[in-house]
Amino acid sequence: MKEGSSENKGRDAQRNNIFAAKLIAEIVKTSLGPRGMDKMLVDSLGDVTITNDGATMLKEIDVQHPAAKMIVEISKTTDNEVGDGTTSAVVLAGSLLDQAEELIDQNVHPTIVVDGYRKASIRAPKTLDKIAIKVSPEDKEWLTKIAKTSMASKLISRDSEQLSALVVDAVVSVAEKTADGYRIDIDDIKVDKKPGAGITQTQLVKGIVLDKEVVHSGMPKRIESAKIALINSPLEIEKTEFDAKLNISDPSQIKQFLDEENTMLKSMVDKVTAIGANVVICQKGIDDIAQHYLAKADVLAVRRVKESDMTKLAKATGGRIVTNLDDLTEKDLGKAQLVEERKVEEDKWVFVEGAKNPKATTILVRGATQKVTDEAERSMHDALMVVKDVVEHPTVVVGGGATEAELSKDLREFANTLSGREQLAVQKYADAFESIPLVLAENSGMDPIDTQVELRAKHGQGKTWFGVNCLAGKVSDMEAENVFEPAVVKEQIIKSATEAAGMILRIDDVIASGKMKAPPMPPGGAGGPGGMGGMGEDYSAP
Ligand SMILES: Nc1ncnc2c1ncn2[C@@H]1O[C@H](COP(=O)(O)OP(=O)(O)O)[C@@H](O)[C@H]1O
Ligand SMILES: [Mg+2]
Repeated sequence: MKEGSSENKGRDAQRNNIFAAKLIAEIVKTSLGPRGMDKMLVDSLGDVTITNDGATMLKEIDVQHPAAKMIVEISKTTDNEVGDGTTSAVVLAGSLLDQAEELIDQNVHPTIVVDGYRKASIRAPKTLDKIAIKVSPEDKEWLTKIAKTSMASKLISRDSEQLSALVVDAVVSVAEKTADGYRIDIDDIKVDKKPGAGITQTQLVKGIVLDKEVVHSGMPKRIESAKIALINSPLEIEKTEFDAKLNISDPSQIKQFLDEENTMLKSMVDKVTAIGANVVICQKGIDDIAQHYLAKADVLAVRRVKESDMTKLAKATGGRIVTNLDDLTEKDLGKAQLVEERKVEEDKWVFVEGAKNPKATTILVRGATQKVTDEAERSMHDALMVVKDVVEHPTVVVGGGATEAELSKDLREFANTLSGREQLAVQKYADAFESIPLVLAENSGMDPIDTQVELRAKHGQGKTWFGVNCLAGKVSDMEAENVFEPAVVKEQIIKSATEAAGMILRIDDVIASGKMKAPPMPPGGAGGPGGMGGMGEDYSAP
C-alpha cells in the first residue's frame, strides 16, 4: 500500500461502520412522529435551522464517516423518491444494523444476515400490497387524510385542517390524466415563502407569484387581460467588451451620442408595444430610459426575474421566452387575466393570475418568523409529495407503526418456514420493523416493553391496524384515528433501509489513503451520542 495509507480490517472495520451508522439513526430517532422533538442546527457560519425533517437534519450535519454517509444518502433518496418517511428510513436502517450486530456477535456470517434481510425485504412489500387499502385518486377526503398525517409530526400540525385542504387543492389542480391514471409534475406547484404573518395566512394563488416589484413608479400596478412579453435579454445598450475612446471636439456631439442611445432604447420599447404587449417580464436588466418609455406606454414591467420563474411563466401563460427582440411577435405573448403588484409585508410582489394554463399554481407560505416559515415550507413540501404519491399510486396503509407491526408479525411467521441461520436473520428483520412503533411510543413517553407486548397481542388477534396512538399515549386502532400514509412511502423506506444496511454489512475492509485515515472506533465504544463529536472531524483523532 502507498505510504500514509491505513487499513481497518475484519470485525473491527465492521463494528466501526455499524457503530457510525447507528449513531446517525440515534440522532434522528427522537424526532420521529407527532411527539418527536425538533432539532436546532447551527452551521459553521452561525446560521440556524430548526427542523423535524430527517433529510434536512442530516443535510445540515457535516458527516464524514463513510458508513454514516451511506445512511445520510438513504434519507436523501427517500426524500427525492417519495418526499416523506426520511426519518423512518434512517431509524429502520439503524435498527437493521443493530439487530445484525447481535447475530454477528453470535458468529453468524454477515453474508448470511444480508441474504436473510434480502429475503425479508422481498416478502415485506408483497405483504404490504395485501394489507394496503385501495382508494380513489379523485377522492379528496382520502387525500386530505394523507396530507394531515404527514403534517401531524410537524410544527404546522395545529393548522393542518386548513393547510391540508390547500395542499390537496394545489396537487389536484396540476394533476394530468393519462391512459393509466394520473401524473403530477411537482414543479408545476411553486412554493414561495414570506415571514411576517401567521401560518394560517398561507394562501393558494392560481397563478405565479414573482418576488419582484414593478420596476418604475410611473407604470401601472394592475393590468387586466394581460399580454405578456417574456424576454431574456437586457433592455439596455450593451457595453462593449473593451474600453472604447470617443474623441469629442464639440458639445453638440455629446448630445448626438446620447440621442443615439436614447433612440436605440426607444426602438426596443416600440418593438414590444407594437405587437400589443402590456406587460414585460425580463430576465435581465431594464435601462432607466427604457423604463421611462415603457411607463409612458402604460406597460407594467418587471426585471431580473429568475430563470426558473421565467420557465414557469412561459408554461403558465402559454408565452415563449424570446432572446432576440427582433424575433418577438404577437404569437409569443403569454396571456393572463390579471397581473398585479401587491404588498406582501414590506415587499411588493407581482402576481400573475388567471393564466391561460390553469395548472400554474403557487403556494405562498407565511409564518411568524423566518425559521418558522422555512420549516413550514419544508413540511408543505412533504405534504405535497405524499398527496402526489397517492394520486399517482392510489393505495394507502395505516400509520402510527401499525403497518410495521403487522409486517413484523408476518415476517416472524415467514421465518418459521425457513431453516437454519437464515431464519434468525429474518426474525431479526421482524424485530427491526418493530423499532418504528417502539420509537414512536418512546417519543410519546410510553413504556416500550408494555407497548411491544400489547402490540404483539393485538396483531396476534388479527387486529391489523393497531398501532401507537402518540397523542392519546396508548395502543389503539389507528385506522379509526384516520392516520394514513401512502403505501409507496413504506415500500421506499424498506428498499432504502435494506440496501444501506446490506451495503454496510458487506464491508469487511476499509482502506483509506493519504490524509483520510481509516476511521477508528468512535470514542466510548458502544456508548451513546457521546462519540458524535468525532464525526465532523479528522479521523486521526485517537
Ligand atoms: N397521530 C399520529 N399518531 C401516531 N403516529 C403518527 C400520527 N401521525 C403520524 N404518525 C406517524 O409518525 C411517523 C412519521 O413521523 P415523521 O417525524 O414525519 O418522520 P418521517 O420523516 O419518517 O416521515 C409515521 O410512522 C406516522 O405513521
Ligand atoms: Mg413525515
